[in-house]
Amino acid sequence: MGTGRRGAKSVQRADLVIVANRLPVDRVVGPDGSTTWRRSPGGLVSALAPVMNAQDGAWIGWPGDVSAELEPFENEGMTLVPVTMSAEEYEEYYEGFSNATLWPLYHDVVAKPEFHREWWDAYVTVNQRFAEAAAKIAADGAMVWIQDYQLQLVPALLRELRPDLRIGFFLHIPFPPAELFSQVPWRRELLEGLLGADLVGFQLSGAAQNFIRLVRQRVGHKTHRDSVYLPDGRVVTAKAFPISIDTAQFEALARSEPVQERAAQIREDLGNPRRIFLGIDRLDYTKGIYARLRAFSELIHDGHFTVEDATFIQVASPSRERVDQYRILRDEIDRLVGHINGDLGRIGRPAISYLNASFPQAEMAALYVASDIMVVTPFRDGMNLVAKEYVASRYSDDGALVLSEFAGAAEELRQAYLVNPYDINGMKAQMLDAYQAEPKDLTRRMKAMRRTVAENDVENWANAFLADLAAARPGHAKQVKPARRT
Ligand code: F6P
Repeated sequence: MGTGRRGAKSVQRADLVIVANRLPVDRVVGPDGSTTWRRSPGGLVSALAPVMNAQDGAWIGWPGDVSAELEPFENEGMTLVPVTMSAEEYEEYYEGFSNATLWPLYHDVVAKPEFHREWWDAYVTVNQRFAEAAAKIAADGAMVWIQDYQLQLVPALLRELRPDLRIGFFLHIPFPPAELFSQVPWRRELLEGLLGADLVGFQLSGAAQNFIRLVRQRVGHKTHRDSVYLPDGRVVTAKAFPISIDTAQFEALARSEPVQERAAQIREDLGNPRRIFLGIDRLDYTKGIYARLRAFSELIHDGHFTVEDATFIQVASPSRERVDQYRILRDEIDRLVGHINGDLGRIGRPAISYLNASFPQAEMAALYVASDIMVVTPFRDGMNLVAKEYVASRYSDDGALVLSEFAGAAEELRQAYLVNPYDINGMKAQMLDAYQAEPKDLTRRMKAMRRTVAENDVENWANAFLADLAAARPGHAKQVKPARRT
């Protein structure tokens, strides 16, 4: 997000409003009390920032710092509207219900979800606050696009306040099958919250079908294909819009001279091994980091290659650090990396270079350019934009992508070395195939994947969603005010 000109201004109502848990920039207060802003983490911001930079819209979100009362301000042509949260709300709504209840539940119960009634109460309170902020800033008949699992009640709460709006919702993470979703004590409330939207978007069509089936079973509405028919005459559409990246911008970054130089430097610093493997993830237990590092170390241990031949760079950016499962994972990965390097490393040649840090986009691009084999092996992932960024960066049509079948991206990137992340031997076999592959085979695969990410970039994704939303009938037929945009 850089350091665009900022300043408080008299707030104008907007025709397009994004509502997301986080603003695209996080507020960082230094030890001397000075404030700076830096791009906030995660795929959601990477995907939406380029779309919104091209629009004159507003973005409502949390500024990444509890208790700060901030006025709306301008950033790169967009109005940013901070929504505040107390320390207790942060614990119960964000760390609790969002990330210790919904997150594991929606990711195949990879960790056990916790259900606490006070966390739910905080989720309702904070969702209400976001809905009120959106109701205040949206112009008559505006489009409001609500993002992700933290805000599933906002569509219905906002419709109560502003029936004139066209309301869209997009879920960036998986939506689980009925058998798992039904565990939630507040399952009906969550479904009814989402049904406040005119259009509910998911990464994959399977997720949209899970939602439609649940609405039929648990709320009792009539459904047909991708439509839900509400008793008041409103029709809600639920369908897939697979998210993507700014492909051209990423490729241009990868081709740029500073990134090229940095990539060469990275290879040299690692002693110019034959192959560099790379993993880039938030440090999250859904990402399958532990199993992938074990698979790599076993390939060395079994004698398929040495630490001089191949090395693994694993970037794991700190995430949700106070949530128990994340703390446990961090310790486990620390121990595993120490163990593997102690066992297999040589002086100046660790098997794994482990970086528990976040990096700017240019450094990520340099890592993509420097690496031969990108390893993306989540147990479950909504899409995984890192896989797409790697493909976009490989403008010479080389490099291999090892990709979990359970990442949304696997539905599009069929030419990747697909793996079941629960099957360590299968993963080893595919990593070894990628290591030994003929350049011709790599080029064939990469060319096909590059065509896919060039055709479906983030602009396409946003346009497809917004076009469907514009075509949707806003609100309750009898209460609708004339819409400014159609
Ligand atoms: O896409 C999943 C997501 O939770 C986004 O909503 C979020 O921006 C990103 O991952 C990073 O997570 P967090 O905001 O919890 O740091």
